[in-house]
Amino acid sequence: MELYVDSADLDEIKEIMNLGILRGVTTNPTLIKKSAEKRKKPGNTLDLDSYITTILRTVGKGIPVSLEVIGTTESDMYREAKLLYEKFNKIADNVVIKIPINPSTYIDRASTDGLKVIKRLTAEGIPVNCTLIMTPQQALLAANAGATYVSPFAGRIDDFLRDKYGISYNKGDYYPKDGLGTPAVNDNGIVSGVDLVEKTVKLLRGYSTKVIAASLRNPKQVLEVAYAGADIGTVPYSTIKDLLSGWLSHHKTAEGMRKFIEDILPEYKVIFENV
Ligand code: E4P
Repeated sequence: MELYVDSADLDEIKEIMNLGILRGVTTNPTLIKKSAEKRKKPGNTLDLDSYITTILRTVGKGIPVSLEVIGTTESDMYREAKLLYEKFNKIADNVVIKIPINPSTYIDRASTDGLKVIKRLTAEGIPVNCTLIMTPQQALLAANAGATYVSPFAGRIDDFLRDKYGISYNKGDYYPKDGLGTPAVNDNGIVSGVDLVEKTVKLLRGYSTKVIAASLRNPKQVLEVAYAGADIGTVPYSTIKDLLSGWLSHHKTAEGMRKFIEDILPEYKVIFENV
């Protein structure tokens, strides 16, 4: 599973890049707001054009960066997608457009505008990351419309199930893959965020659409979505830091290092000294 960073913060993106593990970046309006507020001087606005340009140039060609539209109708989302792509893709040829699966803000008024925009952009060769996927069925529709990526939101499903179960939690808490309760508390048959990702992966077998496990909140969940077969996991900066401290160390690795250092032959050492 490829690791993306779920962040619009240039410092965070640079740090993960310098670690050598960055394969992509995902942003959304909330993440842009967070990083802009951190940078804005009192009374000033942030020049987001040049900020986004710097991000795209810094990560460079071959590392996709998802930028999200803000409209809720077909015409607005299509116009914004074209604008974002035309303005920013020329910088490093790495822009992916994020389109919500259903831009309606009302549960009882579904909109097919997201699907229509995905189809139009895909036909023009513009890569789309279909966002706010909460059911495998939504992912199936997006894949049929031609989305390059779909982003099932694991953490937000866990939040919903915990609320339904009536337990309090912190954002980074782990929620069991197999759910809680007997029968497990569920949302449309989905018992956890990892279950949503697993079923999405299963449903899209045979499609070229890649599954980006999103809304990931802790290292255990990241590992579980990788085992579930997600192509990509987009992980917040703080969770990448947590995961590195947990995943890199192993007592046998440390023991192996000690032994290798102890066994260095003086003649072997000389090879390096003469360089
Ligand atoms: C995905 O692309 C989203 O930006 C993100 O993963 C949402 O995460 P959150 O639910 O923790 O806000």
